[in-house]
Amino acid sequence: MRPMDIEKYLAEKQRHLLKNTSRIRDINVFNFNYIPAKPLMREEAKPVIDALLRYQHSGIANNVLILGCRGSGKSVIAKYLMQILGNRKQLDFIYVNCRQCNTSFRILASALGVRPRGVSLDELWYNFTDLHPQKTVFILDEIDLISNKDKNKDILYLISRSPNNYMVLLLSNDPKFHQLLDASTQSTLQPEIVHFKSYNALELQKILTDRAKIGLGCIPTAIINEIAAMTVKNTNSDVRVAIKTLYQWALEPGIPIKDHFETARRDILVDIIKDLNDQNLCILRAASSQHDSYVKSIYGAYRRISAGLNEEPFSYVHFYSNLSYLQSLGLILLISTKISKTYTNRIQLAFDPVVLAAIWSLRFEQ
Ligand SMILES: Nc1ncnc2c1ncn2[C@@H]1O[C@H](COP(=O)(O)OP(=O)(O)OP(=O)(O)O)[C@@H](O)[C@H]1O
Ligand SMILES: [Mg+2]
Repeated sequence: MRPMDIEKYLAEKQRHLLKNTSRIRDINVFNFNYIPAKPLMREEAKPVIDALLRYQHSGIANNVLILGCRGSGKSVIAKYLMQILGNRKQLDFIYVNCRQCNTSFRILASALGVRPRGVSLDELWYNFTDLHPQKTVFILDEIDLISNKDKNKDILYLISRSPNNYMVLLLSNDPKFHQLLDASTQSTLQPEIVHFKSYNALELQKILTDRAKIGLGCIPTAIINEIAAMTVKNTNSDVRVAIKTLYQWALEPGIPIKDHFETARRDILVDIIKDLNDQNLCILRAASSQHDSYVKSIYGAYRRISAGLNEEPFSYVHFYSNLSYLQSLGLILLISTKISKTYTNRIQLAFDPVVLAAIWSLRFEQ
């Protein structure tokens, strides 16, 4: 067969894409920040709704910490509740994502819409309480990403001690987040802990069906079921992977769904690794560099790598709690093995180390 010239290939591909793009009725539903008009209800949302309503009626803060794996619907449920209760003017909400605002200072500055320069945290807090004397719910999303520099997480202390009785809704995919809080914050915050379980295949099918109805104007049931099954089996039920797979399939229905799924999974994995802080990247680097995968020797390698970057390494306890975080992101597996009568943990990377090498080089070697 004669090789096709570039121009012809380009024109054909463009025609093909244009044709398939027309299959998409509403691209917004495939955006990860899209908030559906009716998100799938789940049992776990009930205690959160109850806590908000109790606060609304009594004014007594009922703090909540939602824990759950990536893509288990923490943000979408919180934002949806903020939308409906906020629109009805029943409660005031302040939503801040701690990935972007990773210190108490930045969180408050963002809540006030000011630049965090030249004022102290106390001043910012004073201004805030002055401007918001009414019942207010702080939603602090991805709270586990508050910087280690903000050791005391003062914002939590301030909110929980506020005479204005503010309430806080914390979202985290680090299952041990609350154990890292200092004793005085824990005792004033006293959050009710709600675990968002990973979705099962049926729930994923429902979420995808709703998206397909609006986004594609049809319901490809067999494809949806296949995507749901693969997502449950291979990703800890990360809905993002499922949504992205459906979208890619709609654009290129000729390609096997398995290939779309793998591409979506890899793209999302790259995003997760890119978003990690330096310390967690060092832990993964150590795990990929050690043939012996025992936690203790990986901790040794991690300390050496941190020293090479002039970073203060985590203590062993802190290192260990970060392992559960990395596991909840689907990046590693902690495997318990028995060695001469005692159990010890090994770490297994759950992704291709080539991805890590590329991101490492971009961050530290350029
Ligand atoms: N119950 C639901 N109904 C409809 N869509 C959902 C539901 N749960 C999750 N989704 C969709 O799945 C995607 C991931 O959900 P979300 O962002 O809420 O996850 P998350 O738990 O906050 O994850 P992370 O820990 O990574 O922040 C979003 O696009 C969201 O709209
Ligand atoms: Mg989220």
